[in-house]
Amino acid sequence: MKYVLLLLCSLFLFGTASAADEAKTQYATFCVACHGDAGKGDGVAGAALDPKPSDLSTTKMTDDEMAKIIKEGGTAVGRSAMMSPWGAVMDEAQLKAMVAYIRTLAAPK
Ligand code: HEC
Repeated sequence: MKYVLLLLCSLFLFGTASAADEAKTQYATFCVACHGDAGKGDGVAGAALDPKPSDLSTTKMTDDEMAKIIKEGGTAVGRSAMMSPWGAVMDEAQLKAMVAYIRTLAAPK
């Protein structure tokens, strides 16, 4: 019985860790080119854009606003169309995890 509990606990821990890991991987896959490793808006593909990709480490957006621009893209909130919608590759849980990941970029180092 003890072992079953232990197993359940580790599954739970693994489950939460992997949502965060997945957000990190998705960020590295979809967002780094424009927003850069640390979210500063200094990715290689972002250099040529006007307006520049936002510095995600200093964003003033609320969680809901962030989820909306990520899901529906810049044009949905009156911003640049270069910020494309990612709703097709992220479900609600992944969007939430992405917003949480972006918050970690703002954490003081
Ligand atoms: C092709 C370049 C590009 C890619 C790739 C990209 N973005 Fe953006 N993003 C932008 C630009 C440009 C803006 C600024 C829009 C504006 O100010 O009009 C922006 C703005 C944002 C904002 C608004 C923040 C604020 O305070 O203004 C968030 C959040 C964001 N991006 C998240 C993401 C996430 C998460 C991904 C990956 C899933 C991503 N972006 C991929 C170009 C990009």
